[in-house]
Amino acid sequence: MNRQAFLRILGVSSLLPLSWLWSRMILTQDKYLTASVSQKKFRNLADGINLFDEVIIVRNPGKTMVFSSRCTHAGCRITRSENNILLCPCHGSRYDATTGKVLKGPAFESLHPLPFSLDQITGTITVKI
Ligand code: FES
Repeated sequence: MNRQAFLRILGVSSLLPLSWLWSRMILTQDKYLTASVSQKKFRNLADGINLFDEVIIVRNPGKTMVFSSRCTHAGCRITRSENNILLCPCHGSRYDATTGKVLKGPAFESLHPLPFSLDQITGTITVKI
């Protein structure tokens, strides 16, 4: 066997394990994505800021916003609000409750909005977490 034939066989034989690894990566990723999405329903919410474990729902007449309660600085849960400002208890970041934008650091990234749907008849808000 000459050198060129040896390299050809080596190249072809390495494709099989690589294709197996690739398929495992794709299957694992799909499983992870499916498992990570869940829904939570919220009913009878008052206007203004509603703080929950994972979710912040801000209801104003004609407009509802839903944010993740994770601070974008280091991931602490935002548990307090004052005068339409969301306060992180860990290092003092402040966010505008209407837009989720940072008003004071150390965070520099806005709160992450979460996809949701609002049932106009029942007022139920379904959030994908
Ligand atoms: S985790 Fe919120 S300010 Fe640091």
